[in-house]
Amino acid sequence: MTLNELDTPAVVIDLDRLEANLGAMQAACDAAGVALRPHIKTHKCPEIARFQLRAGARGLTVAKLGEAEVMADLAGCDDLFIAYPLLGESKLARLRALCERAEVRVSVCSLDQARLLSAGLGATRVKVRLNVDTGLLRDGFEPDAALDAAQRIADLPGLDLVGVFTHEGHCARLETPAAVAECGRSSARRLVEVAERLREQGLPVTEVAPGSTPTALAALDVPGVTEVRPGTYCFWDANYVHRLGLDLDQCAARVVVTVVDHPAPERVIVDGGSKTFFADSGGWWGRARCVELPELTLPSCSEEHGQALWTGAGAAPVALGQRLTFVPHHICPVINLVDCVNVLRGEEVLDTWRIAARGMVS
Ligand SMILES: Cc1ncc(COP(=O)(O)O)c(C=O)c1O
Repeated sequence: MTLNELDTPAVVIDLDRLEANLGAMQAACDAAGVALRPHIKTHKCPEIARFQLRAGARGLTVAKLGEAEVMADLAGCDDLFIAYPLLGESKLARLRALCERAEVRVSVCSLDQARLLSAGLGATRVKVRLNVDTGLLRDGFEPDAALDAAQRIADLPGLDLVGVFTHEGHCARLETPAAVAECGRSSARRLVEVAERLREQGLPVTEVAPGSTPTALAALDVPGVTEVRPGTYCFWDANYVHRLGLDLDQCAARVVVTVVDHPAPERVIVDGGSKTFFADSGGWWGRARCVELPELTLPSCSEEHGQALWTGAGAAPVALGQRLTFVPHHICPVINLVDCVNVLRGEEVLDTWRIAARGMVS
């Protein structure tokens, strides 16, 4: 089958571009001697996870236990980091079962959560990493609070405190690539400092893992960093094209839609709405950037109607039934909306891959 024969709306993955994106990050990590543990939140797809592992990734990062189960069972991954605070008996029962089939590291965000985790482990032991908040103001310890709590966490039964991690997601909001990189370096330095202070306390903290896509390369420059955890780099998206000055062509995941109505010269309706493009507000281009017609923006969507707006001169140069290709503003929730993606080499559809961890939010 060829791209033109695919029914729409369809999410397509350009295999050459995907391989280039994955290969470039792996090569940079290998050159720096730093482990790559990609976050699968973006692709949620066992085939892509297997590719990352074959290319040299140390293991995988997930947010949710359900994602970890899919990656252990369908991608054959036996080295997982769950970068999310696990709480509650049903989750801890699933964690104990998962530990039978994979080495699992888990996040600890507070002393209370560590106590509950320890109490629910039974005879299972898990490696834990302290989540240090280096500026995102989300979950985790302030750096000083991590230093205060670490010994008490290390003393809890069943927990082996092996490392620290941070998600410096706040850096992505900065406007220039240089500012994003400097924010990444400074977050990584703060994390390295926390690890050094913990080692001075006698704690065997050997894993120092910052993690986000736009800061990953900058973090590789910081001595003491042992692992990075980017996720979005597999596909990139319109947001990163804008913020990091990338080429739209570097984006490996796109949505192909059909023009189903052209009710006014400047208004164009395509067959993907918020159930395809997600309801992010996006940038000047709206929810996604049109590859063929850069002046066609996608400022609003109802559930099944993408309400595109032509910002160029005259009427939008489209015809009913015409196919258009969009690069989503934020790719992660778009992938989470489909059962399968179509894998392309050039114009040929080679395969469909299941997004097996889509919807795995528990
Ligand atoms: C804990 C953690 N690590 C890594 C990542 C990956 O970062 P990015 O989305 O910039 O690829 C995320 C993203 O949300 C995250 O929450």
